[in-house]
Amino acid sequence: MNDTTVPETLAYTNGRLVLIDQTRLPGELVTLVCEDVEQTHDAIRRLVVRGAPAIGIAAAYGVCLAKPANRAGYLSAIERLATSRPTAVNLFWALDRMKAVVESTSSDDDLAGVLQAEAIAIHDQDRMMCRDIGRHGATLLRDCHAVLTHCNAGGLATSMWGTALAPIYHLHQSGHAIEVFADETRPLLQGARLTAWELSQAGVPVTVLTDSMAGSLLRTGKIDAVIVGADRIAANGDAANKIGTYPLAVLAKYHDVPFYVAAPSSTFDLSLANGDLIPIEQRARIEVSSPHGVCVVPDAANVINPAFDVTPADLITAIVTELGVVESPDTEKLARHLA
Ligand code: MRU
Repeated sequence: MNDTTVPETLAYTNGRLVLIDQTRLPGELVTLVCEDVEQTHDAIRRLVVRGAPAIGIAAAYGVCLAKPANRAGYLSAIERLATSRPTAVNLFWALDRMKAVVESTSSDDDLAGVLQAEAIAIHDQDRMMCRDIGRHGATLLRDCHAVLTHCNAGGLATSMWGTALAPIYHLHQSGHAIEVFADETRPLLQGARLTAWELSQAGVPVTVLTDSMAGSLLRTGKIDAVIVGADRIAANGDAANKIGTYPLAVLAKYHDVPFYVAAPSSTFDLSLANGDLIPIEQRARIEVSSPHGVCVVPDAANVINPAFDVTPADLITAIVTELGVVESPDTEKLARHLA
């Protein structure tokens, strides 16, 4: 546990990557150890480690687990890890940093040590990012008592406090009475399994609702603000996040409740002009058709399972990053904010 009482989602010790196995929560708190690139790839693909910043950090350590005969081997490891998941841009951001180290380090003898230092730097920066998002986001939520979130953008998804949950931990720690309503987040239940688990561990009051209940909670005035994370934000502020985020933003707009997105600068992809260009991961049918191994969809029926949707910037009240707050985000404001 770190000083915030949020469990450490991953650690790199003695040349091994140790992950909390998020597929087993909340029933069991167990770790999975990765000792090579393939095991790290598999852990990211299967969502043992998940959430945009955590995927990036895990991939950076995954590169360190490669024990190639030459520098080209590190580049192959980076290419392989880049195929583990397509949407969260933090994965590619972290791997690009590792690639730059491979390309700029002149001596092969130093390379393993320099790569490890870079992965540790990515991890350390993520902790600072969480703290800063917490501080900036808390200014937006200071008059709020009931906050709704979707999926898990907390400590399990990052290295410390998370993004969307960071302002909540910040306020909770400073004695502000705040409670969280967590969408269960179909189909893999990251809200019910993970957000509710980590908030309970930290002593933050949390109530789980099915995704379809959010509208009536908003209509009856029970929610002061909605805050979510993001997997990739385009240059104009359109934000990809867990499937179900977009309808929540529409509902928030209709009910005049502020809708905030919290994400580090590493989640921005300024090469994409808008959110229509963000690649959306399509996951396996079985996640929808057989939750917990129980078949709930007839074999003859088709199933669609996009893991993310895109919320247009005009539905977003503000984006919070480690650098501060951008109200009513658009291309110009974001370019200035991130410059
Ligand atoms: O499929 P997941 O569980 O990796 O999806 C995660 C999310 O959508 C999170 O909200 C996002 O990565 C932000 S994590 C700080």
